[in-house]
Amino acid sequence: TPNECKIRDLKPMLGKRILIHGWVHHMRWDGKRLLFIELRDGTGFLQSVLTDDLCATVDAITLKRESSVKLYGTLAEDDRAKGTFNGYELKVDYWELIGSSPAEIENILTKESNVDILLNNRHLVIRGTRASSILRARSLITQCFREHFFGEGYVELTPPTLVDTQCEGGSTLFKLDYFGSEGFLTQSSQMYLETGIPAVGDCFCILPSYRAELSSTRRHLAEFHHIEAECPFIDFEGLLDRVENLVVDVCARFMEKGADLLQTLNPDLKPLKRPFKRMDYTEAVEYCREHNIYKDEENKIHFEIGDDIPEAPERKMTDMIGEPILLCRFPAEMKSFYMKKCPEDPRLTESVDLLMPGVGEIVGGSMRIDDEKELLAAYEREEMDPRPYYWFTEQRKYGTCPHGGYGLGLERFCCYLLNVYHIRDVCLYPRYRGRIEP
Ligand code: 4AD
Ligand code: MG
Repeated sequence: TPNECKIRDLKPMLGKRILIHGWVHHMRWDGKRLLFIELRDGTGFLQSVLTDDLCATVDAITLKRESSVKLYGTLAEDDRAKGTFNGYELKVDYWELIGSSPAEIENILTKESNVDILLNNRHLVIRGTRASSILRARSLITQCFREHFFGEGYVELTPPTLVDTQCEGGSTLFKLDYFGSEGFLTQSSQMYLETGIPAVGDCFCILPSYRAELSSTRRHLAEFHHIEAECPFIDFEGLLDRVENLVVDVCARFMEKGADLLQTLNPDLKPLKRPFKRMDYTEAVEYCREHNIYKDEENKIHFEIGDDIPEAPERKMTDMIGEPILLCRFPAEMKSFYMKKCPEDPRLTESVDLLMPGVGEIVGGSMRIDDEKELLAAYEREEMDPRPYYWFTEQRKYGTCPHGGYGLGLERFCCYLLNVYHIRDVCLYPRYRGRIEP
């Protein structure tokens, strides 16, 4: 009996007879006695060749892309063969069709199909070379995040995503009927993570967050994966260092582990250099004014000095500067209720956004209000009912401590690392306004 193999493990099998299961990624038939199959098994691609009687059967003649097959044969060398290991070819001596695939597959997976057709058929599109490489890369990137955090001694927690509180403002809350009372899909696990620090110290989570974003842009999802961390007994400078370390380290780890994927997906990715440029919000507004970039692409003026810098000018500024920017100390009125004020100017907060060229904001973080009275005043100012937040407030009552944390959007960081333009292309099944299937 031949060895059953995965394509990624084929290197030492040269000259041996093997069995491989997989899907017909591409095929080429000369109409007579030679059928080339590019086999895909999820771990790689292998050129396989069927000759003579093997390609004269009904199964061979009616074979279509995406059929599943089992192939028996000898792994041989062939200079022309392309695949996971160039120069390797499977000379098939026996094969079986497992699941056939209809002819219309040719019309679905084409380069001309429009975005909606491609998204409706996402379950098939993900089998493609580029889409499957992106999914594989995303898995590696997630692994790199975990390795970073575990290497630094963080504990992974899993806060609930069905909640009765809001973290980032009412306008993007998804409401739901929770056994007859009102519940929400979480916007951020931050508040629960904060309560975890007296229990386990530095902690992180990798969970979905939900935002009912009405604007559709190439970087907004209704469901995204949020990498969040919370750290006790640090100061604002310490927080900036942690954000910088995370992003630099995960990029370096991914460049090492994902070198083969990056060769095709983003060969120009460079290691990130420490320290990142640090800029205060007021300086950024000044920069936008000096460079006349507080207008969007259509030249409409979008913000006045003092307003939140909207997406278009923010991205333009980041692209002009051309390197990561830690944008610091946003005015309190444009940021969330839980942010700590700057001791030197209480109109500002100890907050930070990390902006990356090409993508814009990928991280939002801050020091947290750690005084109970100050937090109660913040609820009142925001007209929030403090009752559902009692557990969050009580963290300030039972042994409060200075602490800070941040959230990083995994999909946005993937766009940066893989040079992907639209955020939907780094999702298995993207969710945004107007799309909830498949
Ligand atoms: O800036 P945000 O809203 O900050 C928070 O939610 C904090 N509670 C996080 C924390 O301190 N633990 O979101 C953080 C990051 C953003 O920088 C962005 O990368 C991502 O989450 N993000 C989104 N990604 C895709 N689609 C959306 N609609 C997103 N909203 C936020
Ligand atoms: Mg933000």
